Order: sequence, then C-alpha cells, then structure tokens
Amino acid sequence: MDRYLVFGHPVRHSKSPFIHTLFARQTQQELEYGLAEPDVDEFAQALRTFFDQGGKGCNVTVPFKEQAFTLVDCLSPRAKRAGAVNTIKLTDDGVLLGDNTDGAGLVADLKSHGVTLADSRILLLGAGGAARGSLAPLLAELPSELVIANRTHTKAQQLAAEFHDLGPVTAQTYEQLAGPFDLVINSTSASLQGELPPLAPALIHTDIAIYDMMYGASDTAFICWAKQHGARQTMDGLGMLVEQAAEAFTVWRGIRPGTKQVLRELKRNLGMI
Ligand code: ATR
Repeated sequence: MDRYLVFGHPVRHSKSPFIHTLFARQTQQELEYGLAEPDVDEFAQALRTFFDQGGKGCNVTVPFKEQAFTLVDCLSPRAKRAGAVNTIKLTDDGVLLGDNTDGAGLVADLKSHGVTLADSRILLLGAGGAARGSLAPLLAELPSELVIANRTHTKAQQLAAEFHDLGPVTAQTYEQLAGPFDLVINSTSASLQGELPPLAPALIHTDIAIYDMMYGASDTAFICWAKQHGARQTMDGLGMLVEQAAEAFTVWRGIRPGTKQVLRELKRNLGMI
C-alpha cells in the first residue's frame, strides 16, 4: 500500500493522519498515513530512509519546513516563494518535488467562509514563516492593499520588499496602522505564549473579518479579543489545516477531496461541536 506520513517535532498531536485517512476513504484511494518525529538533527536522514523504503510522499511541519526546502531535488514555484516546504512528492521519475500548500490552504479557507479578497484591504500580522508562505497566494487574489505589521518592523519591511513585484504590499509598524481594513490575518505565534499582537482596538469594526491561523478547542486569545471589540466574523486556522491537506492530497494523488465533511468530523474529534 502507498505510504505517506508527516514529519514534525513534536508531531504526536498532529491531525494530519486523521484528515488524510478520511480523504483516502472518501476518494477510495488505497494508502496509509503515519507520523514521524525524528530528533531535530536527524530529519535529513529520516527523510532519506522513508523514501528509500518506498514512501510516496510526506508532509513536513514545524520545525522542519525550512530544512525540507534544502533537501528536495526540485521546488514548485510557490515553495520557492515561500522559502519552505510542507509537502514532498516522489515523482514517477524518482525526483523529490518540494511544494508548499499552506498559502493555498489559507486562501481556500477564506473563500469557503465567503471572504472577498479582490479589491480588499488586508492586514497581515507577523512576518515569520507562516506570513511568508501566505503572501504570494494572497496577492494573487488582487487585494487593493496588503499591509504587513510585525513586532520587529525590519522583518516586515524585508518581506514587503521581497514580494513587492507581486502586488501592492507595504510594511507598517503597529502604531502606524490606519484603518479601515476589511480583513485581518493573525499569523503571529503570540497566542502560543498566551499573548496578543499589539493591535489598536479601534481597528476592529463590525464589518471586519478576522482570521487567526491558530486554533484550539475554544476561541483563541486573538479571536476572543476581536469579538470583545465588535468583530462579528471570526475564523480560526482549523479550516486552513484541512484545506492545505486537501491541496497536498491533490498533489500526491491527482484527485481533490471534499473538505466540508472532513472539517466537521475533525471538529467533532476535537470536541469543538
Ligand atoms: P511561524 O513559522 O509560525 O510564522 P516564526 O517564523 O517564529 O513562526 O514567526 C513568528 C511570528 O510571530 C513573528 O512575526 C513574531 O514577531 P517577531 O518577528 O518580532 O519575533 C511574531 N510574534 C511572536 N510572538 C509575538 C507577540 N507576543 N506579539 C507580536 N508578535 C509576535
């Protein structure tokens, strides 16, 4: 049977095996999907061994995405832009192809929530790997403006300069931000420390859409904060997780699984509904 897995550290709580097993059942594909948690300095060897032993493809998550970028034989354009690889496919010619489906997953999830990206003013919080991966797919949707704000402003400036050729992207400090924005995307890892990005509450209004790439059994700190200040449409990153997986599954199997029912089952599995 064709074998796939996700590499990460830690990865025990990953929902990818659950999601891909449901995709395989739904599309009647014969495959198995597991987990691998190599030590941080043993990822390269573990990746090689997996493919030497017949593995067909894998996902790569924290902290290995940048390393995976350097280990594959060739890169998709979107992986090249993202500077990171979250999906690897062994092609029929024996080539390891590195791809990145995170940004496409974000855009697909935003669209599934009915968020309009064309001609919108988007505020992206954070300038780390998650922000970098989402910039090209967001700009491809032709927003009127995309502003990056980051605690370390120079990183936002660097990102804006790097993606400037793809659309109207600029960097502003949190203090400089002036609304109204149509959509705020939180790509920071602030909530991992129970913190909030330093966003002025005045930027939140009733018609704004709030997206947090994080998720949990209950509302993230950022979503709670945005609701308190009047946001009515809030979305967490669980849908992005399912959509980036669907995109990876499509790369591997050439067949696109449906995501709605899988997202529902995942929420049930997490005790969210
Ligand atoms: P990821 O790959 O998940 O994007 P990362 O590359 O470590 O992770 O980036 C984390 C991002 O969250 C960075 O933009 C970071 O800001 P700095 O560049 O200033 O470090 C941002 N971040 C983390 N904690 C934050 C906090 N408490 N408030 C605001 N931004 C925070």
